Order: sequence, then C-alpha cells, then structure tokens
Amino acid sequence: MESSNKNILIKFQNPELPIVCVQGLGFVGAAMSLAVADASDTNGDPLFNVIGVDLPTPDGKARIDALNAGSFPFETVDNKLLEVFENINRRGNLIATSEVETFSRASIVLVDVHLDIDTENAAPRIAIQGFKSAIEILGQEITSGVLVIIETTVPPGTCENIVAPLLCDCLKSRGMSENDFLLAHSYERVMPGVDYYDSIINFWRVYSGLTDEAADACGDFLSKIINTKDYPLTRLKSTRASETAKLLENSYRATNIAFIEEWGRFAEAIGIDLFEVIEAIRVRPTHNNIRQPGFGVGGYCLTKDPLFASLAAKSILNLDGVQFPFCTQAVRINQRMPLVSLDKVEKMLDGSLQGRTILLLGVSYRPDVGDTRYSPSQTFVENAYARGAEVICHDPLVRHWPEMDMNIPQNIPEPVGIDAVVFASSHEHYRNIDLKQWFQGEQPCVLDANNVLTESQRTFLKQSGYKFDSIGRG
Ligand SMILES: NC(=O)c1ccc[n+]([C@@H]2O[C@H](COP(=O)([O-])OP(=O)(O)OC[C@H]3O[C@@H](n4cnc5c(N)ncnc54)[C@H](O)[C@@H]3O)[C@@H](O)[C@H]2O)c1
Repeated sequence: MESSNKNILIKFQNPELPIVCVQGLGFVGAAMSLAVADASDTNGDPLFNVIGVDLPTPDGKARIDALNAGSFPFETVDNKLLEVFENINRRGNLIATSEVETFSRASIVLVDVHLDIDTENAAPRIAIQGFKSAIEILGQEITSGVLVIIETTVPPGTCENIVAPLLCDCLKSRGMSENDFLLAHSYERVMPGVDYYDSIINFWRVYSGLTDEAADACGDFLSKIINTKDYPLTRLKSTRASETAKLLENSYRATNIAFIEEWGRFAEAIGIDLFEVIEAIRVRPTHNNIRQPGFGVGGYCLTKDPLFASLAAKSILNLDGVQFPFCTQAVRINQRMPLVSLDKVEKMLDGSLQGRTILLLGVSYRPDVGDTRYSPSQTFVENAYARGAEVICHDPLVRHWPEMDMNIPQNIPEPVGIDAVVFASSHEHYRNIDLKQWFQGEQPCVLDANNVLTESQRTFLKQSGYKFDSIGRG
C-alpha cells in the first residue's frame, strides 16, 4: 500500500489544499496526523492534506502500511479516534510513506520522532544522532518559508542550538537563503488511552517560536487543529522556555510519584491504608493531585524526561555546576519500585523465589491501555527470572509483549500450580474478577501491587485465609 512520491499528490481528493507532513508515525505522530487531517473549515471541509512519513524500518513500514490500509497502527480503546479515522478515510486526505522527498511538498512539517536517553554506559547521554539526522533530512527537502514545529520532547536549547543551525546549514548548502524557514516548538501532552484523541484536540497547548513570525504561524496552525475556544493556547517567550515547560511538567509528576514511595513503606509498617489517607488529603484543592503508591512508573515520558535538563545543561547549554538531584533521585526510585513488589512476593513465599511460579496480571504500564513501553512489569519479570522464578503473564489489552518478545494469553489463566498472584496493572478487567470462582479452592499468595482490587475482593481474600499483602496498605 505504500505510495511513491510521484503518486502522492494525485491520490488526494483535493490536491489544492496545503500539505502538512508529520515526521514520525509513533504514538504521537500517528494520532497527530489524524488530528490534522480531521481539521475542517466552517463548511466541514478539510483544511489540509496530510502526509505521514516514517522510516523504512519494519516498525516504520508497519505503521505506514496500517495507516494507508485505513487502520490505526496501535491498539486503542478510544472509539472517537477510530470514528475520526473512518471519516478521514472517506475524505482521502491522509497518506503515509517513507519517501522523504515528500517533505518538499509541505507548507508545514510537524516533527514527532523519538529522542531517547542512552543509558547503556555508566554515564547516561542524550542519543541525539537520530533526531539530528531527521532534521537534516528536512533541511535537504523543505522549500522556502516552511513552518517546522518541533513536537518531540527535546532538551532545553535544542531548537536554538541544534535544529536552527542544522536547517541553516542545509539550506545554505542548497544555495537557498539560510534563514528561510519558520521554527516553532509546541510539545505534546497526548495520552494514549480512552481519551487519546481528545488529549490532542480538547486539551491545552503551550507553544513558542524562534521568531515572533514563527510563533504567530504556529499559534495560527494550532488553533485550526485544537479546540482553542475551550482550551486556549499558552504562548511562551522562547523555545527554551517551552522546551523547559515540558520537562518540568513531567519531572514534577515523576517526582511526586517517587515522593510517595517512602510513605507507602511507612503506611505498610504502621498498619494504615495510605490510599484512604491520600483521598482525605486530595480534598484540599492545593493538594488534589498528590500521587499514590503503586507498582512502578512506565511509559516513554516519565522514565526519561526528568533526566533531560541535567544532561542538556552540559552538552547543549554549556552550563557548569547545574544539577538536578531531585529529578535524578526520582527516576532512580521509580526504576526500583517494581522490586519492592518482588521482595514482598519473595517474603510471602518464605524468602525464596527459586522454582516458584508467579502469575503477573498486567504487563502494560497504564490502566486500560495496552502500552508496554518501559513497563515496570518488565523489571519485575526480569528480576523474578534472575531469582529463579517462573512468571506467567496476562494482560487483557496486550497480545504480544514486544519488549519481552512474549505472547500474552487473552484469557486469564487458571490459578492451578501458581504460588503467587500479583495484580500489577489496575485494568478495570481485574476489578470484575469473581475471586472465589476463579480460585476454585486454590490458595496462592496474592499481592495487590497497584490498588487494583476492590474493597470486597480484598475482604474476601482476608476472610478466606489467603496470604495477602498490598502496596501502600498495612
Ligand atoms: N507517547 C506519548 O504518550 C507521548 C506523550 C507526549 C510526548 N511524547 C513525546 O513525543 C515524541 C514521540 O513519541 P512517540 O511515543 O510517538 O515515539 P515512538 O517511538 O512511538 O515514535 C517515533 C517514530 O518516529 C519514527 N522516526 C524516527 N526517526 C525518523 C525519521 N528520520 N523520519 C521519519 N520517522 C522517524 C520512528 O520510526 C517511530 O515510528 C517523543 O519525544 C516523546 O517523548 C510522547
């Protein structure tokens, strides 16, 4: 189904519309492509033709083929997103390709490629090369006056110190005026899940531009995509400021989660229910987003974003002596969190996991979402293996766990021959299990690692003599 560059324009039903290219068709770019393709004028007619561009890698090709075949490339429970996609298929204004020449047709380019932190070596570093080559590809193709909006989460200083100079160099080497582009930054707050689509179009956005003209153009574009009447845009004075805003936002969340970890241990030690305590505190408007104890932190953002600023300080901003001890410690605490659950299981199984079988319920990191990236379940399983245990995994929303190359059964396994059951992801599915019927007299140990079980499920376990423990409840 992949289209070649030559065919791209004739495939659009209305070839006159301005073209928006979305570079990177991952969780952000694929959904953003739909949001742009769905943008309409007051008559309900499309405002843009959209070309999604990904790499010719197996993953990239699979995403391209899925979009061209009219199916969203990721499992989703968001019906609104699927409905929007059906409408776009009828409109015929979205095409995906790996042909980079298509960037030469764009009036606007959204950059949604990934940018990771390389933790292979002792000192983590920003794995900037892939991102830089994505920008160089743009520099070799874009035409005069194109608006480039960086949506990728980037370290502060990236637009000014990396993207702009790269684009200038490329344009110069093509004999063009080196500043003949508009560069803006607007970070994504998209949340794959039931409100995946709304988290783009019905949500607040921050943006900035390298110049006022770029910021104006970015604000104008975003207001065609986003419901800015109900969710007004916030314009910041520089790209450094909006790059920092994204990192601070996610660092705040990651630190808030890590902060609760020690209180969870305290609550367990003194026999109180920290979830009840937190509910009482959340009544105060100033404290209503205090986090709660859990199994761990996963996903692509909270696991890396808090480290970007400290890495950027030296490598991009040439600052000495600027450190981020809270953020660094928060990431460390969050990484270790699943081991607290594993230690608890080990303790319940008389101090050894050797030869034991654990049933892990939930491999995705978010409730009711099938996203397994950087899932704490992976840390749990790998360490359980290292301690000699066998782990059987289940997740109602994951058929294949790519990071572990493991097929996941769709039906919850019978608890026969299981020594311990760990409820790790707080999927609604698990709250509906009739434990008495499911266990049928089997007596595994049970750990509620993520406030998954209902009060009546917990009461059943306690009253029926199960060895039962919880994270955050004594
Ligand atoms: N996933 C989220 O929920 C979320 C939320 C907010 C922000 N973000 C940020 O958005 C960015 C993208 O995240 P994601 O989850 O979509 O990542 P992803 O890994 O799912 O997707 C990135 C895509 O970019 C493609 N790509 C890489 N280099 C390319 C190139 N040169 N040309 C074309 N395609 C290229 C990859 O093949 C991949 O398909 C990241 O910076 C992330 O931190 C993600």
